[in-house]
Amino acid sequence: MISVQNLNHSFKIGKKGKEKRVPVLKGLTFDVAEGEIVSIVGKSGSGKSTLLHIMAGFLTPESGEIRVQGIQTSAFNEVESAKFRLDHFGFVFQNFQLMPGLTAFENVELPLTLKGINKSERQKKVKDLMQSVGLTDVQDHYPNELSGGQQQRVSIARALITDPPIIFADEPTGSLDSETEQDVLLLIQSLNKTRGITFVIITHDDEVAQTANRVYRMHDGVLTEGGAQHAI
Ligand SMILES: Nc1ncnc2c1ncn2[C@@H]1O[C@H](COP(=O)(O)OP(=O)(O)OP(=O)(O)O)[C@@H](O)[C@H]1O
Ligand SMILES: [Mg+2]
Repeated sequence: MISVQNLNHSFKIGKKGKEKRVPVLKGLTFDVAEGEIVSIVGKSGSGKSTLLHIMAGFLTPESGEIRVQGIQTSAFNEVESAKFRLDHFGFVFQNFQLMPGLTAFENVELPLTLKGINKSERQKKVKDLMQSVGLTDVQDHYPNELSGGQQQRVSIARALITDPPIIFADEPTGSLDSETEQDVLLLIQSLNKTRGITFVIITHDDEVAQTANRVYRMHDGVLTEGGAQHAI
């Protein structure tokens, strides 16, 4: 599903004229198979979010190659990346990133509007999905009228609404208590089973890592397989 070959990235830091480049990703090569839940663990600042931003095409890597379903996405320009993202990826973040001025229903509907889907088709799709993830009762609530767990369910529904083959999640349970975290993890596992969606989940949390089929650990700019029990 995703293939990463010899990926390198560094950031320029420091004052103008005195910049230096700090390497963050050093020659990563790994794959994510179709239908897998993969988690990436590693300590703060180790480069996990940077890797996710590169895989999703928000950031161009210094060198290396990324293929998604065989397509070389690392060669895309910004417009091509944005279009590819809309068709292939969903995103879930720690702080939900819902639009405060839109209801739960409207937040989930938004990606379909961006794709130019007509209103009646949008409304039907959103209604069905809200029902299947248990959000019908709160669909007219604004984000500030929802619990953290409900907000994360809405953001997962928003990630799903365009039927992407891959969902990237950066600390999806980082803001939730352990009971709500369980609830969200069960939802992710069930979506993985019933819809075959591939998940790439960044986490500090052992419990989250243990739900994955495969765990990669980021350390010193390289990624190694295994290490769930050492998640930070
Ligand atoms: N835009 C940027 N410019 C300069 N340095 C950056 C930039 N983004 C990230 N970095 C640096 O790259 C390194 C990796 O950051 P990244 O956000 O990928 O870490 P992370 O593993 O996601 O950490 P956390 O678990 O705290 O979210 C850090 O040292 C960070 O300071
Ligand atoms: Mg991060």
